[in-house]
Amino acid sequence: MTNADNTGAAAPDQVVLVVDFGAQYAQLIARRVRELRVYSEIVPHSISADEVASRKPAAVILSGGPASVHVEGAPRLDPEIYDLGIPILGICYGAQLIPHQLGGEVGRNERGEYGRTVLNRIAGSSSSLLHDGIPSEQVVWMSHFDAITEVPEGFEATASTPNAPVAAFESRERKIYGVQYHPEVAHTPHGMAAMEQFLLRESLCRPDWTMGSVIDSSVQAIRAQIGSEKVICALSGGVDSAVAAAMVHKAVGDQLTCIYVDTGLMRLNESDQVVETFQKHQGIELIHVDAGERYFERLAGVTEPETKRKIIGELFIRIFEDFARGLDDAKFLVQGTLYPDVIESGTKDAAKIKSHHNVGGLPDDLKFELVEPLRNLFKDEVRKVGSELGLPDDIVLRQPFPGPGLGVRIIGEVTPDKVAILQHADAIVREEIAAAGLERDLWQSFAVLADIRTVGVMGDERTYAHPIIIRAVTSDDAMTADWARLPYELLERMSNRVINEVDGVNRVAYDITSKPPGTIEWE
Ligand code: XMP
Repeated sequence: MTNADNTGAAAPDQVVLVVDFGAQYAQLIARRVRELRVYSEIVPHSISADEVASRKPAAVILSGGPASVHVEGAPRLDPEIYDLGIPILGICYGAQLIPHQLGGEVGRNERGEYGRTVLNRIAGSSSSLLHDGIPSEQVVWMSHFDAITEVPEGFEATASTPNAPVAAFESRERKIYGVQYHPEVAHTPHGMAAMEQFLLRESLCRPDWTMGSVIDSSVQAIRAQIGSEKVICALSGGVDSAVAAAMVHKAVGDQLTCIYVDTGLMRLNESDQVVETFQKHQGIELIHVDAGERYFERLAGVTEPETKRKIIGELFIRIFEDFARGLDDAKFLVQGTLYPDVIESGTKDAAKIKSHHNVGGLPDDLKFELVEPLRNLFKDEVRKVGSELGLPDDIVLRQPFPGPGLGVRIIGEVTPDKVAILQHADAIVREEIAAAGLERDLWQSFAVLADIRTVGVMGDERTYAHPIIIRAVTSDDAMTADWARLPYELLERMSNRVINEVDGVNRVAYDITSKPPGTIEWE
């Protein structure tokens, strides 16, 4: 194991490079490779043969992409990469690129193929290494318009589908393989078996990349980076900073001090839970800053969502800085940066996508060196690492929670009274969702307090109080989301309990808006 970039993140010496041709499938491919316990990284398609060679990868996988190889300016691979002797697997666009660049032919198809189709081995082809042990007829998932019609010299077509005469090909001699279908998606039942054949049998990868090995090598990397210096970490209550802090603590123990800024905008009992988990159970030095009053003062009279975000974010930074300066001998700062952030910040569209989601992020001019032990990990891997480090499920499996907290779930002015109402209603919503066993199936589920009052009747009395809106969505990445089809009985229970138990609420609505056109949060 080696430390690649002196950020406290360890990168194993065996790596598979996934060349990104512009589809979101590159991340999925990289994750699938890692599920086979082989470490993978995503690299841009502009990577040169020299750069690839210098990484000494065990294999290279070319991802799918939205372009047609026939379009001018469509992304290409540096052709010298094919001659490096490193095993290559092309998927979809990546598969078409190989014949296109090596002397085969890709036809402009009359009809594309989208969705499930049946793949058949080509009779008479010599045995296919990729499909060895897989039924000769299998269901695969396709998404293509052009189709490979002729393989380059020295290659053999090994499988076809109704609209793709060459749906798989290989050259054992050159160790180059291509599949028109998507082995990385769940709709291709034998896809992982084909990936395994390529990685373990052809590329001789050792399946030894486990969360245990990640922790061991990260701990070494962090120790090498920090030495005997002091390090600080801002805990947010979220998964990423929690796991990053636990990892650094494992590496350097009480050289780490965590700062938890309690904004007063957290969910019910959340601050107590953070303090309890980190101080008592993990034995981490923790400064708990009770800043609720300062937040309410600054937020008084403010109703515009972006202004609220700005105030909450800036105050966080000011408070954190004050405490960090008090610890003036600290040289390092822990950040819970994840691999998707690293990939995105390498692409030009990144700024657009992330824009307002960095409240709680710290400015660059803080005079600390960054320790980013999670920067090579996907979210699901971070959760697994967190569990191995002994963090409770309540922390590692929790749903995302926005940096500005309940501040953006109270529409209009934020006051202590409204926070109390929302905390109570939100706790009921989350309790009932958990009791129904749905918490982990949902991306997020929470309550929103609207800035209006509606008329109701309770007993013989007319009421005039706030409505609570329940929001529950399914999503893979928060870029798009669908409203969750919660059972009516569950909605009814939540509604009854919120109205009966929470003073100041007389109506409950369920938000049935997807994203787009809505956003997940209400502000
Ligand atoms: P939207 O509401 O834009 O949210 O669909 C997408 C995801 O981002 C979270 N979110 C935030 N996270 N600071 C954060 O740290 C913010 O200001 C913020 N706004 C939204 C939201 O909870 C969802 O997971």
